[in-house]
Amino acid sequence: MSTVSVVLFLVSILLSVSFSPLVSRADVFAQTHSAGASRSGSSRILLLTAHPDDECMFFAPTILGLLADSEPRRLGSEVFSLCLSIGDADGLGDIRRGELARSLDVLGIPAGRRWALDRPDLKDNITAMWDSRVIAAAVRPYVLENHITTILTFDYHGISEHPNHRSLVYGVADVIASLAVDASQPPRAFALLTVPLLQKYTGMLAPFLAKAYIVIAQHFTYTIPEVVDGHVQSPVFVSGIAQYQKAIRAMLQHHTQLEWFRWLYVVFSRYMWVNEWAEILPSSPGGGA
Ligand SMILES: *[C@@H]1O[C@H](CO)[C@@H](O)[C@H](O)[C@H]1NC(C)=O
Repeated sequence: MSTVSVVLFLVSILLSVSFSPLVSRADVFAQTHSAGASRSGSSRILLLTAHPDDECMFFAPTILGLLADSEPRRLGSEVFSLCLSIGDADGLGDIRRGELARSLDVLGIPAGRRWALDRPDLKDNITAMWDSRVIAAAVRPYVLENHITTILTFDYHGISEHPNHRSLVYGVADVIASLAVDASQPPRAFALLTVPLLQKYTGMLAPFLAKAYIVIAQHFTYTIPEVVDGHVQSPVFVSGIAQYQKAIRAMLQHHTQLEWFRWLYVVFSRYMWVNEWAEILPSSPGGGA
């Protein structure tokens, strides 16, 4: 075989795996469902973000995975979205609130299941950590009123190291710690894993690598479970081409944010394709950021 045909062969494998339908391993979220099944019989999942556009830039594979009709373990997930600011750092908050609503329309989270807050103590600010107690107080009523079983948010690095993103995990740890005391079925919480910089921009390679990893890991769980125990348990969502296109359509609703570098992000970012999650544990009483 000539070099050209070898390269074409490899590229065609890469493209067909990358564009193949969604793969997701949401079983850990589903276990949450069975633990909390006494109330409504379905998972009620709250996505907690900091700014309009977080939902489509970082979390689209998960939202679309949870809402996909083809997901066999879907078990009737209901997905809710709470954004703690309207992204008012440049004075465009009122416009961005509308952009968020249109983006969530595209992603499939309808009005009535989505909220954007505009509080003086949770302002979009690239130098400010938000107070974990303020976050917890803001989030808690939404968790209780909607019988949320699972909270999803950023991890300690917040993908981009934006301090508003990085604050959220501390607030969520406080919420679940307080509900572990007060509620009979406290929700579980998960953080979206920030990957190292080089891995972050693997773009279209990312779904290929993630799907290959899932297939290999499933094979090894089947044959030698103890080898990969724990690692395999973390939920992963990998988009196919249809979900990727939908995430781009959601991104296009954010007219005020469409700078040229966004297009580099869309092409190269792994989070447009792959979301991996780790469980957040309750903070100890009096702890937090
Ligand atoms: C952002 O937060 C910093 C403190 O971290 C504060 O000094 C600054 O005034 C804030 N900016 C705005 C626009 O509120």
